[in-house]
Amino acid sequence: MSELAGPPVPGLAKLWTHDPVTAGPYRLVGRLGAGGQGVVYLGEDDAGDRVAVKMVNVDLSDPRARSQFVKEIAAARRVAPFCTAQVLFAEVDGERPYVVSEFIEGLTLHRHVRERGPVTGNALHRLAVGTVTALAAIHSAGVVHCDLKPDNVVLGEDGPRVIDFGIARALGNTETASSRVMGTTAYMAPERFRNDAIGPPCDIFAWAATIAFAAGGRPPFGNDSLFAVMHRVLHDAPDLPALPPVLDELIRECLAKDPADRPAAERVLVRLLRQDGRVTEPLRRESLLEVGNETAGAPTPNHPLPPVTPTAPQPRPTQTPTRPTVPTQARPTQPAHLQSQPAHLQVTEPGVRAGGGGAWRRLRGEALDAWGISTALFLGSVGAAAGYVASSAVGPAAAVGAVAFVVVYLVRLLVATAIGRRSDGE
Ligand SMILES: Nc1ncnc2c1ncn2[C@@H]1O[C@H](COP(=O)(O)OP(=O)(O)OP(=O)(O)O)[C@@H](O)[C@H]1O
Ligand SMILES: [Mg+2]
Repeated sequence: MSELAGPPVPGLAKLWTHDPVTAGPYRLVGRLGAGGQGVVYLGEDDAGDRVAVKMVNVDLSDPRARSQFVKEIAAARRVAPFCTAQVLFAEVDGERPYVVSEFIEGLTLHRHVRERGPVTGNALHRLAVGTVTALAAIHSAGVVHCDLKPDNVVLGEDGPRVIDFGIARALGNTETASSRVMGTTAYMAPERFRNDAIGPPCDIFAWAATIAFAAGGRPPFGNDSLFAVMHRVLHDAPDLPALPPVLDELIRECLAKDPADRPAAERVLVRLLRQDGRVTEPLRRESLLEVGNETAGAPTPNHPLPPVTPTAPQPRPTQTPTRPTVPTQARPTQPAHLQSQPAHLQVTEPGVRAGGGGAWRRLRGEALDAWGISTALFLGSVGAAAGYVASSAVGPAAAVGAVAFVVVYLVRLLVATAIGRRSDGE
């Protein structure tokens, strides 16, 4: 493991022999964990600031997959920093795409419950408020998390933070993603098994299942075989632990089978905050998120909030993970290395580096395409045979065959690369 500049991070594992050692300006100093989407590394820059770098297992050579990835990550970057780990930027060129986000020190909710038991009392209330505040911020930026579960909530020093939002969707159309069950079954809403349209209500369902897990130590539809869980999610009533009355009522509503019957994240937040008298009258969204943020454990911000979906490129916090409660000018500035992009990089969306390398990578991919080589070989042989029939001499026949091979190979290579390039730009 490369030396850590800052304090030790509990649970950080050594890099494996073939792990990358850098990602953009960050030195990778260890493994934070691995999941179905890839491996997450702890990165440090020269100033010792820390980030989480998720190297995703995905092939972005398909232009559609690539453009969906870029679009979803750009949207995730616009999520306001309330109870979330901010997405800082992404790199889609190079051998392996990666997404960089704020590093949150702490146990995941899953690990916390496994090692220390269920969350109760005020801590449960703060957890529910913090996670639904994050969802309200995520949804108001037009993003759907699609993979909310206890592994994607980190219990930071200053309250719970939701991580990984938008990534499942960014990987949505790719082979890698479709070959695994996205999200964990026990937290997936019924519409996800029916292949219906997915929207914010699927996150509300996942939120309720996550809070029920936190309170009781097991998800409300069990966690045994995939099909048994799916059947219960689709047809059975949830099996909930004992919960405070308001939370119990809310969680049952949020676990409704029909997505249209589930309340929106902001409604859930208002009802939780009313319960402890934090909200007595209708609030603007920004103020509501601010109260949610404070209730979840963050210090009170005493300056005006920025727009919830700023258009300016977002930022990397300048210090180690203090909760970015907010904002004024304090919405951090674009990381220095992204302020001036290298000339060969084309920034298709703020904070997502993509471009120059794509055409080159496509050309390399097409050059090794087995079908292209076989077709050229076949037509080259046909050319050689025709040359032999015409001249009855081996030399000229071989020359005709070689020229036919080279011409067919090059023409196919150029046409395939150009077509890929056009559809990339669409
Ligand atoms: N921003 C972050 N800050 C701190 N730790 C993180 C961060 N992102 C990920 N981690 C750590 O890395 C581990 C692996 O994360 P990863 O998202 O790959 O797996 P997962 O959440 O278990 O599964 P999935 O791939 O379905 O999301 C997490 O359990 C968490 O401990
Ligand atoms: Mg995760």
